[in-house]
Amino acid sequence: MRIDVFTLFPEWFDWFRSQRHVRNAVELGSELRFFDYRETTPLSGRQVDDAPYGGGAGMVLRVDVVDAALRSAYERSGAPARVLLLAPSGRQFDEVLAGELAREPHVALLCGRYEGVDERVREHLATDAVSIGPYVLSGGELAAMVIADAVVRKLPGALGHAESPVEESFSEALGGAPEYPHYTRPATYRDWDVPEVLLSGDHERVRQWRLERSRERADR
Ligand SMILES: C[S@@+](CC[C@H](N)C(=O)[O-])C[C@H]1O[C@@H](n2cnc3c(N)ncnc32)[C@H](O)[C@@H]1O
Repeated sequence: MRIDVFTLFPEWFDWFRSQRHVRNAVELGSELRFFDYRETTPLSGRQVDDAPYGGGAGMVLRVDVVDAALRSAYERSGAPARVLLLAPSGRQFDEVLAGELAREPHVALLCGRYEGVDERVREHLATDAVSIGPYVLSGGELAAMVIADAVVRKLPGALGHAESPVEESFSEALGGAPEYPHYTRPATYRDWDVPEVLLSGDHERVRQWRLERSRERADR
């Protein structure tokens, strides 16, 4: 899989791409690429934004700047089928969308900044607008990292065997419900005991208990 991130701050992702599961995915053939809008802007002085028509506070990322970045990145290889604009007003990102994206061979994430992005990007250049939650961040970079992380950990081999992504919160294995609680040693800490069933060695009782706790969490 290839994930392309368009941003004004590619250095924000240095930490992200040094993480083990991301390095695993890259070693296994996935690609994570970063494109700086300023490197391809058609405007002088590396300008990328402008004042909003109609007035108001803040600056807006220009459509010609975003288009130039996309054209430059995809002039030879062709654009991906999914080009996601990160926007607080977009479709709420969730595990279902993470799964959809993980099945795509190629995805682009467009990070906004300032007051936002010229609406013509959403109308003509992006295929989806996606939000990571009903709050406003300063830019799309953290949202892109959230999405890339949730997608990358679904790629085969990204996680170690011990961290299988099959039975976890919102997975099909749990019927879309949150995961059940986990405990580890010590069995008693202060006066907080691990549930007896988990120490019983009875796999069927453990399975039932976990499903019940998972369903309880879904009903909360
Ligand atoms: C300060 S925000 C712009 C907020 C915009 N004026 C509004 O009220 O919706 C700048 C950029 O951060 C990103 N962003 C902020 N919050 C986000 C969220 N919850 N999900 C995804 N992207 C977000 C978007 O790319 C956005 O263009």
